[in-house]
Amino acid sequence: MDRYAVVGNPVAHSRSPEIHAAFARQTAQALTYERLLAPTGRFVPTIEAFFASGGAGLNVTLPFKEEAFAWVDERDEFAASAGAVNTIVKVGARFRGCNTDGLGLVRDLERRHGLVLAGACILVLGAGGAARGVLGPLLGRAPARIELMNRNAGRVATLLERFEDPRLAPADEASRAYDIVINATSAGTQGEPIPFDARLARGAFAYDMAYGVGAQAFSEWAARGGARRTVDGLGMLVEQAALAFALWRGVAPETDPVLAQLRAAQ
Ligand code: ATR
Repeated sequence: MDRYAVVGNPVAHSRSPEIHAAFARQTAQALTYERLLAPTGRFVPTIEAFFASGGAGLNVTLPFKEEAFAWVDERDEFAASAGAVNTIVKVGARFRGCNTDGLGLVRDLERRHGLVLAGACILVLGAGGAARGVLGPLLGRAPARIELMNRNAGRVATLLERFEDPRLAPADEASRAYDIVINATSAGTQGEPIPFDARLARGAFAYDMAYGVGAQAFSEWAARGGARRTVDGLGMLVEQAALAFALWRGVAPETDPVLAQLRAAQ
C-alpha cells in the first residue's frame, strides 16, 4: 500500500489524515496516510527517512513549508510564487514541490461560496507566510485590486516587492470599500481583538483562513464592519487536500461530503 503523511511540528492536531482517509474510501484508492512529527531542526532527515522507507508523498505544514521549498528538486508555479511547499510529489527519482493552499482558497471562494473574484476589491489582513501563499492564485483570478493590511508595514513592503503587481497595494484609509476581506493573520487565537480599522462594502464577504480557535474575534470584527457573513477556512483545508490527492493519485475526489463529515465531527 502506498504511504503518505503530513509532516509538521506540532502535527497531532492535523485533520489531514481524516480527510485523506475519506478521499481514499470515496475513490477506492489503497493507501495509508499518517502524521509525521519532525523534531525542530530535523525536518530534512525526517522526510528523507520517510521516503527512504518507501513513502510515496507528503503534505507539509507549519513550520516547514519554506524548508520543504528549499529541499525539493523542482517546484510548480504556485510553490514558486509562495516560496513555500505544502505537497511533495515523487516523480521517478525526483521530488516535486507543489503548493495547493492558494488554489484551495480560490476554489472554496469561487465554487463553494459562489464569489466572483474577477473585478473584486479584496482586502487581505496579514503579510506573513499565510498571506504570501495565497496572493499568486488570488491575483490569477483577475481581481481589480488586492490591498494588504498588517501591523508590521515592512512585511507588506516585502510582499509588494516580491509580487510586483500594480493591482497589489498597501491598504490605506482613503481606498474604496472592500467586497471581500480575507484574514491571513494569526490574530485572535489568544482571544485578543483584531487591531485593524477597515471600511467594508455593505454586505461584504469575510473569509477566515483559520478555523476553530480564535474564529470569533475575526467574525465579530467583520460583522461590525458590515460583512454579511463570515466563513472559516475548513473548506480551504479540504480543497487544498483534494488538490494534493489529485497530484498524487491522478483522481479528483468530491470535497462536499468530506467537508460535511469534518463539520459533523467538529
Ligand atoms: P503565517 O505563516 O501563519 O502567516 P507569520 O508569518 O508568523 O505566520 O505571520 C502571522 C501574521 O499574523 C502576520 O501578518 C502578523 O502580523 P505582524 O507581521 O505584524 O507580526 C499577524 N498577527 C499575529 N498576531 C497578530 C495580532 N495579535 N494582531 C494583528 N496581527 C497579528
